[in-house]
Amino acid sequence: MDNLLTEIDHVAIAVNDLDAAIAWYESVFGATVEHREVVDSDGVAEALLRVADSYVQLLTPTRDDSPVAKYLANKGEGLHHVGYRVADCAVALEAVKAAGGRVIDEFPRPGSRGTTVAFVHPKTSFGTLIELVQDNGVGH
Ligand code: CO
Repeated sequence: MDNLLTEIDHVAIAVNDLDAAIAWYESVFGATVEHREVVDSDGVAEALLRVADSYVQLLTPTRDDSPVAKYLANKGEGLHHVGYRVADCAVALEAVKAAGGRVIDEFPRPGSRGTTVAFVHPKTSFGTLIELVQDNGVGH
């Protein structure tokens, strides 16, 4: 079968202080922020720093009931999820469901920078939250 995963879109890291994390990547590695966005529906502020054709996504909560706030409270800072780029989010999500997998998003939904996304439950994907990211070529 064809590989539905075409690229690592981003590796998302939950941090307590977004500006401090950005400053560290900039000063130590010379990385640059390509995109910043507050995603109200998810209760997060994020910054995307480009690494080749992928990104490091630094995430911090914007409110106490955000899933990322709960993550930080329970586990502390660290790897939050891996975003895989796919040509068609709906097709990739269907593949997960067809294999009996548990999903967080039953249907694809809007993500940051104009993407279409869906999350797969970490219980299905061997302990790591994964995000299927359809890059619609909007945000960059
Ligand atoms: Co993500």
